[in-house]
Amino acid sequence: MSEFKRIGVLTSGGDAPGMNAAVRAVVRTASSFGIECVGIRRGWQGLINNDFIRLSSESVGHTLSRGGTILYTARSEEFITKKGRDRAVTTCKMLGLDGIIAIGGDGTFRGALELSRLGIPVVGIPATIDNDVGCTNYTIGFDTACNTAIECIDKLRDTMQSHERCSVVEVMGRNAGFLALYVGIAVGATAVLVPEHKIDFQKDVVERIQTARLAGNTHFMIVVAEGAGSAVEIGKKIHEAVGMEPRVTVLGHIQRGGSPNARDRETATRMGYYAVSSFAEGRGNCIIATQEGGIVEIPIEEALAMKKHLQMDRYKIMEAMLIGKTRSNP
Ligand code: F6P
Repeated sequence: MSEFKRIGVLTSGGDAPGMNAAVRAVVRTASSFGIECVGIRRGWQGLINNDFIRLSSESVGHTLSRGGTILYTARSEEFITKKGRDRAVTTCKMLGLDGIIAIGGDGTFRGALELSRLGIPVVGIPATIDNDVGCTNYTIGFDTACNTAIECIDKLRDTMQSHERCSVVEVMGRNAGFLALYVGIAVGATAVLVPEHKIDFQKDVVERIQTARLAGNTHFMIVVAEGAGSAVEIGKKIHEAVGMEPRVTVLGHIQRGGSPNARDRETATRMGYYAVSSFAEGRGNCIIATQEGGIVEIPIEEALAMKKHLQMDRYKIMEAMLIGKTRSNP
Protein backbone atom coordinates (compact mmCIF):
# COMPACT_ATOMS: atom_id res chain seq x y z
CA MET A 1 0.00 0.00 0.00
CA SER A 2 1.51 3.33 -1.05
CA GLU A 3 2.25 5.96 1.62
CA PHE A 4 1.87 8.61 -1.02
CA LYS A 5 -1.65 9.99 -0.83
CA ARG A 6 -1.10 13.46 -2.25
CA ILE A 7 1.75 14.74 -4.40
CA GLY A 8 2.71 18.06 -5.98
CA VAL A 9 3.88 18.56 -9.55
CA LEU A 10 5.81 21.56 -10.85
CA THR A 11 7.72 22.74 -13.92
CA SER A 12 10.88 24.76 -13.40
CA GLY A 13 13.66 26.44 -15.44
CA GLY A 14 13.29 27.07 -19.18
CA ASP A 15 10.06 25.67 -20.58
CA ALA A 16 10.14 22.88 -23.16
CA PRO A 17 7.52 21.43 -25.53
CA GLY A 18 6.10 18.34 -23.84
CA MET A 19 6.09 19.68 -20.29
CA ASN A 20 2.29 19.73 -20.37
CA ALA A 21 2.24 16.16 -21.62
CA ALA A 22 4.37 15.20 -18.61
CA VAL A 23 2.10 17.07 -16.18
CA ARG A 24 -0.94 15.39 -17.72
CA ALA A 25 0.67 11.95 -17.42
CA VAL A 26 1.58 12.60 -13.78
CA VAL A 27 -1.95 13.70 -12.94
CA ARG A 28 -3.70 10.88 -14.78
CA THR A 29 -1.33 8.18 -13.51
CA ALA A 30 -1.70 9.48 -9.95
CA SER A 31 -5.46 9.48 -10.33
CA SER A 32 -5.42 5.90 -11.59
CA PHE A 33 -3.36 4.91 -8.53
CA GLY A 34 -5.70 6.78 -6.14
CA ILE A 35 -3.15 9.54 -5.44
CA GLU A 36 -4.27 13.18 -5.37
CA CYS A 37 -2.29 15.69 -7.38
CA VAL A 38 -1.71 19.39 -6.69
CA GLY A 39 -0.15 21.69 -9.30
CA ILE A 40 2.54 24.00 -7.92
CA ARG A 41 2.76 27.08 -10.11
CA ARG A 42 5.95 28.93 -11.11
CA GLY A 43 8.40 26.19 -10.17
CA TRP A 44 10.28 26.15 -6.86
CA GLN A 45 9.22 29.77 -6.28
CA GLY A 46 5.61 28.62 -6.23
CA LEU A 47 6.43 26.09 -3.54
CA ILE A 48 7.90 28.90 -1.45
CA ASN A 49 4.87 31.14 -2.09
CA ASN A 50 2.20 28.49 -1.56
CA ASP A 51 1.10 29.10 -5.16
CA PHE A 52 -0.94 26.06 -6.16
CA ILE A 53 -3.94 24.80 -8.13
CA ARG A 54 -5.93 21.63 -7.76
CA LEU A 55 -5.46 19.25 -10.68
CA SER A 56 -7.73 16.45 -11.77
CA SER A 57 -7.84 13.99 -14.62
CA GLU A 58 -10.37 16.29 -16.28
CA SER A 59 -8.51 19.55 -15.71
CA VAL A 60 -5.49 18.35 -17.70
CA GLY A 61 -7.66 17.47 -20.70
CA HIS A 62 -6.60 19.07 -24.01
CA THR A 63 -3.10 19.85 -22.74
CA LEU A 64 -1.21 17.00 -24.42
CA SER A 65 -0.64 18.96 -27.61
CA ARG A 66 -0.06 22.37 -26.01
CA GLY A 67 3.38 24.00 -25.92
CA GLY A 68 4.68 25.93 -22.91
CA THR A 69 3.59 24.89 -19.45
CA ILE A 70 0.15 25.37 -17.93
CA LEU A 71 1.84 25.48 -14.51
CA TYR A 72 4.06 28.43 -15.52
CA THR A 73 7.76 28.23 -14.78
CA ALA A 74 10.46 30.30 -13.10
CA ARG A 75 14.07 30.26 -12.03
CA SER A 76 13.98 30.88 -8.28
CA GLU A 77 16.85 32.73 -6.56
CA GLU A 78 15.07 32.36 -3.23
CA PHE A 79 15.04 28.56 -3.41
CA ILE A 80 18.85 28.62 -3.43
CA THR A 81 18.74 30.00 0.11
CA LYS A 82 18.11 27.87 3.20
CA LYS A 83 15.31 30.24 4.26
CA GLY A 84 13.57 29.78 0.91
CA ARG A 85 13.83 26.01 1.05
CA ASP A 86 12.51 25.95 4.62
CA ARG A 87 9.49 27.91 3.44
CA ALA A 88 9.01 25.37 0.64
CA VAL A 89 9.02 22.56 3.19
CA THR A 90 6.38 24.45 5.20
CA THR A 91 4.18 24.66 2.08
CA CYS A 92 4.56 20.91 1.52
CA LYS A 93 3.48 20.25 5.09
CA MET A 94 0.60 22.71 4.94
CA LEU A 95 -0.72 21.18 1.71
CA GLY A 96 -0.12 17.65 2.99
CA LEU A 97 2.16 16.80 0.07
CA ASP A 98 3.92 13.47 0.48
CA GLY A 99 6.23 14.11 -2.44
CA ILE A 100 7.01 16.41 -5.36
CA ILE A 101 7.50 15.64 -9.04
CA ALA A 102 9.78 18.29 -10.55
CA ILE A 103 9.94 18.67 -14.33
CA GLY A 104 12.96 20.54 -15.68
CA GLY A 105 16.72 20.38 -16.20
CA ASP A 106 19.85 20.16 -14.06
CA GLY A 107 19.06 23.37 -12.12
CA THR A 108 15.67 21.95 -11.22
CA PHE A 109 17.27 18.73 -10.05
CA ARG A 110 19.81 20.53 -7.86
CA GLY A 111 16.77 22.06 -6.13
CA ALA A 112 15.21 18.58 -5.95
CA LEU A 113 18.27 17.21 -4.18
CA GLU A 114 18.20 20.00 -1.58
CA LEU A 115 14.50 19.48 -0.92
CA SER A 116 14.92 15.72 -0.60
CA ARG A 117 17.64 16.37 2.01
CA LEU A 118 15.01 18.24 4.03
CA GLY A 119 12.83 15.15 4.08
CA ILE A 120 10.50 15.82 1.14
CA PRO A 121 10.72 12.97 -1.39
CA VAL A 122 11.23 14.22 -4.95
CA VAL A 123 11.22 12.61 -8.39
CA GLY A 124 12.65 14.52 -11.35
CA ILE A 125 11.57 14.36 -14.98
CA PRO A 126 14.15 15.74 -17.45
CA ALA A 127 12.72 18.38 -19.76
CA THR A 128 14.86 20.92 -21.60
CA ILE A 129 15.38 21.69 -25.27
CA ASP A 130 19.17 21.58 -24.61
CA ASN A 131 19.26 17.78 -24.01
CA ASP A 132 22.16 18.51 -21.65
CA VAL A 133 21.12 16.44 -18.61
CA GLY A 134 23.95 13.99 -17.91
CA CYS A 135 21.96 11.01 -16.62
CA THR A 136 19.56 10.66 -19.54
CA ASN A 137 19.95 10.09 -23.27
CA TYR A 138 16.94 12.24 -23.93
CA THR A 139 15.21 15.25 -22.41
CA ILE A 140 11.62 16.19 -23.22
CA GLY A 141 11.43 19.03 -25.75
CA PHE A 142 14.65 18.38 -27.62
CA ASP A 143 13.10 16.78 -30.69
CA THR A 144 10.42 19.43 -31.12
CA ALA A 145 13.03 22.20 -30.73
CA CYS A 146 15.25 20.51 -33.35
CA ASN A 147 12.31 20.37 -35.75
CA THR A 148 11.41 24.02 -35.11
CA ALA A 149 14.99 25.09 -35.81
CA ILE A 150 15.12 22.93 -38.93
CA GLU A 151 11.89 24.44 -40.25
CA CYS A 152 13.26 27.96 -39.73
CA ILE A 153 16.62 27.15 -41.31
CA ASP A 154 14.96 25.49 -44.33
CA LYS A 155 13.10 28.76 -44.87
CA LEU A 156 16.29 30.76 -44.50
CA ARG A 157 17.96 28.50 -47.03
CA ASP A 158 15.32 29.39 -49.65
CA THR A 159 16.17 33.07 -49.50
CA MET A 160 19.92 32.45 -49.09
CA GLN A 161 19.83 30.32 -52.23
CA SER A 162 17.96 33.01 -54.22
CA HIS A 163 20.41 35.74 -53.20
CA GLU A 164 23.50 33.50 -53.18
CA ARG A 165 24.31 34.46 -49.63
CA CYS A 166 25.85 33.07 -46.51
CA SER A 167 23.63 32.61 -43.49
CA VAL A 168 24.90 32.40 -39.92
CA VAL A 169 22.25 30.97 -37.59
CA GLU A 170 22.58 30.88 -33.82
CA VAL A 171 20.67 28.14 -32.03
CA MET A 172 20.12 27.67 -28.30
CA GLY A 173 21.66 24.96 -26.13
CA ARG A 174 23.24 26.94 -23.28
CA ASN A 175 26.75 25.44 -22.84
CA ALA A 176 26.09 22.36 -24.95
CA GLY A 177 26.11 21.68 -28.68
CA PHE A 178 23.53 18.85 -28.87
CA LEU A 179 20.85 21.01 -30.48
CA ALA A 180 23.27 22.71 -32.90
CA LEU A 181 24.89 19.49 -34.07
CA TYR A 182 21.62 17.60 -34.61
CA VAL A 183 20.15 20.58 -36.44
CA GLY A 184 23.35 21.19 -38.41
CA ILE A 185 23.38 17.60 -39.69
CA ALA A 186 19.67 17.74 -40.50
CA VAL A 187 19.91 20.93 -42.55
CA GLY A 188 23.16 19.99 -44.29
CA ALA A 189 25.06 22.94 -42.82
CA THR A 190 28.31 24.06 -44.41
CA ALA A 191 29.79 24.28 -40.91
CA VAL A 192 28.58 23.73 -37.35
CA LEU A 193 30.27 25.40 -34.40
CA VAL A 194 29.78 23.77 -31.00
CA PRO A 195 31.38 24.50 -27.61
CA GLU A 196 32.67 20.92 -27.33
CA HIS A 197 34.95 21.33 -30.36
CA LYS A 198 37.76 23.94 -30.21
CA ILE A 199 37.19 26.16 -33.20
CA ASP A 200 39.93 26.58 -35.78
CA PHE A 201 38.23 29.38 -37.73
CA GLN A 202 40.32 28.95 -40.87
CA LYS A 203 39.79 25.19 -41.06
CA ASP A 204 36.30 24.87 -39.57
CA VAL A 205 34.68 27.80 -41.35
CA VAL A 206 36.74 29.54 -44.05
CA GLU A 207 38.08 26.44 -45.77
CA ARG A 208 34.69 24.73 -45.65
CA ILE A 209 33.04 27.70 -47.34
CA GLN A 210 35.81 27.72 -49.96
CA THR A 211 35.50 23.96 -50.57
CA ALA A 212 31.74 24.24 -51.03
CA ARG A 213 32.20 27.25 -53.31
CA LEU A 214 34.71 25.39 -55.51
CA ALA A 215 32.27 22.47 -55.72
CA GLY A 216 29.63 24.83 -57.11
CA ASN A 217 27.68 25.97 -54.05
CA THR A 218 26.60 29.57 -54.14
CA HIS A 219 24.98 29.77 -50.71
CA PHE A 220 26.29 28.66 -47.35
CA MET A 221 24.73 27.81 -44.01
CA ILE A 222 26.75 28.16 -40.81
CA VAL A 223 25.06 26.89 -37.63
CA VAL A 224 26.46 28.26 -34.35
CA ALA A 225 25.58 26.91 -30.91
CA GLU A 226 25.03 29.85 -28.54
CA GLY A 227 27.69 28.34 -26.27
CA ALA A 228 30.27 28.42 -29.08
CA GLY A 229 30.14 32.18 -29.60
CA SER A 230 28.05 34.96 -31.03
CA ALA A 231 26.65 34.52 -34.52
CA VAL A 232 27.11 38.27 -35.08
CA GLU A 233 30.84 37.98 -34.36
CA ILE A 234 31.18 34.87 -36.53
CA GLY A 235 29.39 36.75 -39.31
CA LYS A 236 31.88 39.64 -39.05
CA LYS A 237 34.83 37.27 -39.18
CA ILE A 238 33.43 35.53 -42.26
CA HIS A 239 33.04 38.92 -43.93
CA GLU A 240 36.68 39.77 -43.17
CA ALA A 241 37.98 36.38 -44.30
CA VAL A 242 36.00 35.67 -47.49
CA GLY A 243 34.44 39.00 -48.43
CA MET A 244 30.80 37.86 -48.32
CA GLU A 245 28.35 39.75 -46.14
CA PRO A 246 26.57 37.02 -44.18
CA ARG A 247 23.03 37.50 -42.89
CA VAL A 248 22.79 36.64 -39.21
CA THR A 249 19.73 35.09 -37.56
CA VAL A 250 19.43 34.34 -33.85
CA LEU A 251 16.57 31.83 -33.59
CA GLY A 252 16.15 32.49 -29.86
CA HIS A 253 13.03 31.59 -27.91
CA ILE A 254 11.03 30.49 -30.94
CA GLN A 255 12.86 27.17 -30.40
CA ARG A 256 11.16 26.74 -27.03
CA GLY A 257 7.59 27.08 -28.28
CA GLY A 258 5.16 25.03 -30.30
CA SER A 259 3.13 21.89 -30.02
CA PRO A 260 5.27 18.92 -28.90
CA ASN A 261 5.88 16.31 -31.57
CA ALA A 262 5.23 12.57 -31.29
CA ARG A 263 8.53 11.77 -29.60
CA ASP A 264 8.08 14.44 -26.94
CA ARG A 265 4.45 13.56 -26.19
CA GLU A 266 5.21 9.87 -25.96
CA THR A 267 8.40 10.23 -23.90
CA ALA A 268 6.74 12.75 -21.57
CA THR A 269 3.81 10.40 -21.03
CA ARG A 270 6.05 7.45 -20.21
CA MET A 271 8.26 9.51 -17.91
CA GLY A 272 5.24 10.93 -16.11
CA TYR A 273 3.88 7.43 -15.59
CA TYR A 274 7.16 6.09 -14.20
CA ALA A 275 7.65 9.14 -11.96
CA VAL A 276 4.35 8.47 -10.18
CA SER A 277 5.05 4.72 -10.13
CA SER A 278 8.29 5.41 -8.27
CA PHE A 279 6.29 7.08 -5.48
CA ALA A 280 3.47 4.55 -5.61
CA GLU A 281 5.99 1.74 -5.16
CA GLY A 282 7.54 3.53 -2.19
CA ARG A 283 10.79 4.78 -3.75
CA GLY A 284 11.27 8.39 -4.97
CA ASN A 285 14.34 10.63 -4.65
CA CYS A 286 15.41 9.78 -8.17
CA ILE A 287 15.47 11.10 -11.71
CA ILE A 288 13.51 9.29 -14.40
CA ALA A 289 15.94 8.80 -17.30
CA THR A 290 16.04 7.13 -20.69
CA GLN A 291 18.98 4.86 -21.30
CA GLU A 292 19.22 2.80 -24.47
CA GLY A 293 15.56 3.32 -25.10
CA GLY A 294 14.31 2.09 -21.73
CA ILE A 295 13.28 4.09 -18.67
CA VAL A 296 15.40 3.84 -15.54
CA GLU A 297 15.43 5.50 -12.11
CA ILE A 298 18.69 7.05 -10.95
CA PRO A 299 19.21 8.43 -7.42
CA ILE A 300 19.27 12.24 -7.65
CA GLU A 301 22.80 12.78 -6.34
CA GLU A 302 24.22 10.11 -8.65
CA ALA A 303 22.24 11.53 -11.57
CA LEU A 304 23.63 15.03 -10.98
CA ALA A 305 27.19 13.70 -11.02
CA MET A 306 26.73 12.00 -14.39
CA LYS A 307 28.20 13.63 -17.50
CA LYS A 308 26.99 13.32 -21.06
CA HIS A 309 29.39 14.06 -23.90
CA LEU A 310 28.53 15.30 -27.34
CA GLN A 311 28.87 12.38 -29.72
CA MET A 312 31.94 13.49 -31.68
CA ASP A 313 31.28 10.79 -34.30
CA ARG A 314 28.30 12.94 -35.24
CA TYR A 315 30.64 15.91 -35.62
CA LYS A 316 32.80 13.87 -38.02
CA ILE A 317 29.69 12.82 -39.94
CA MET A 318 28.63 16.45 -40.25
CA GLU A 319 32.13 17.30 -41.53
CA ALA A 320 32.07 14.49 -44.09
CA MET A 321 28.79 15.70 -45.60
CA LEU A 322 30.41 18.82 -47.08
CA ILE A 323 30.08 18.95 -50.84
CA GLY A 324 33.44 18.68 -52.63
CA LYS A 325 35.28 17.34 -49.59
CA THR A 326 37.98 14.85 -50.66
CA ARG A 327 41.03 13.42 -48.95
CA SER A 328 43.29 15.76 -50.95
CA ASN A 329 41.05 18.62 -49.87
CA PRO A 330 40.43 17.91 -46.17
O1 F6P B 1 17.84 25.88 -21.01
C1 F6P B 1 16.97 26.24 -22.02
C2 F6P B 1 17.39 27.55 -22.64
O2 F6P B 1 16.48 27.86 -23.67
C3 F6P B 1 18.84 27.62 -23.15
O3 F6P B 1 18.99 27.00 -24.40
C4 F6P B 1 19.09 29.09 -23.15
O4 F6P B 1 20.46 29.37 -23.02
C5 F6P B 1 18.31 29.57 -21.95
O5 F6P B 1 17.33 28.58 -21.67
C6 F6P B 1 17.62 30.90 -22.13
O6 F6P B 1 17.05 31.26 -20.93
P1 F6P B 1 15.97 32.41 -20.76
O7 F6P B 1 14.65 31.88 -21.23
O8 F6P B 1 15.98 32.70 -19.31
O9 F6P B 1 16.42 33.54 -21.62
